[in-house]
Amino acid sequence: MADVDWGSIQRVNTERMQLFQQLHLYGDVIPLDHVINLDLLDIELKSFEKSWVPYNAVGKKKSNPREGLSVTSLDGGMSGVPDLFSLYEWSKETGRKVSECDFNVPTEAYRKCTAIHRLCEPFMPNVGRCRFVRFQPGGHFPPHRDGSVSYQIPDYFRILVPLNRTGDDRFHFVLDGRLVSYEPGRPYLFNALKTHSVVSFEEGAVTLALSVALTQENVAKAISFFKIY
Ligand SMILES: [Fe+2]
Repeated sequence: MADVDWGSIQRVNTERMQLFQQLHLYGDVIPLDHVINLDLLDIELKSFEKSWVPYNAVGKKKSNPREGLSVTSLDGGMSGVPDLFSLYEWSKETGRKVSECDFNVPTEAYRKCTAIHRLCEPFMPNVGRCRFVRFQPGGHFPPHRDGSVSYQIPDYFRILVPLNRTGDDRFHFVLDGRLVSYEPGRPYLFNALKTHSVVSFEEGAVTLALSVALTQENVAKAISFFKIY
């Protein structure tokens, strides 16, 4: 660790923390001011029935029933590699380091799913890794915190939208040890540095997870989209 430039790491972390705090002074789960049209989205997703990719189906995780559909990716493709797999493992194998914000090329799923345009468009081209995830009963993401490649504070903030076949009795979203009450179709900006997990009790529960680049402009835009301000 002797060669690490802690001074520059501290400067980057401090700058990011200042931006991150501007958002999360308002709360850890913040509802935004519109609701996605779930009937329209259901119709639009139908043409991608064969495009879902098993999500990070490696080793023991193969038994976790969840699939992803890339809304943005590194190259605009929908193979799911590496965006629906472990970036850490992929970086180790390829020697290429990528961050959430590098996944900013919209895919065919983005173009055809117009129901999510009102949410994503204002942040383009700064929407990083963004994907639909579809769960079968038992499909989950275990408790974790979202990290950053080289620093402690990430260079993005997160939005989660519980979509089709979600709801309090069907799909649980837990943040910082507490069950979050939510409205299906409504986007929630949440503090992903706190532990979070999701689990589905329902066939075909769909969510949208978005990373947005942590810039002053995007922070200001996000605040202007709060449901209550
Ligand atoms: Fe996460």
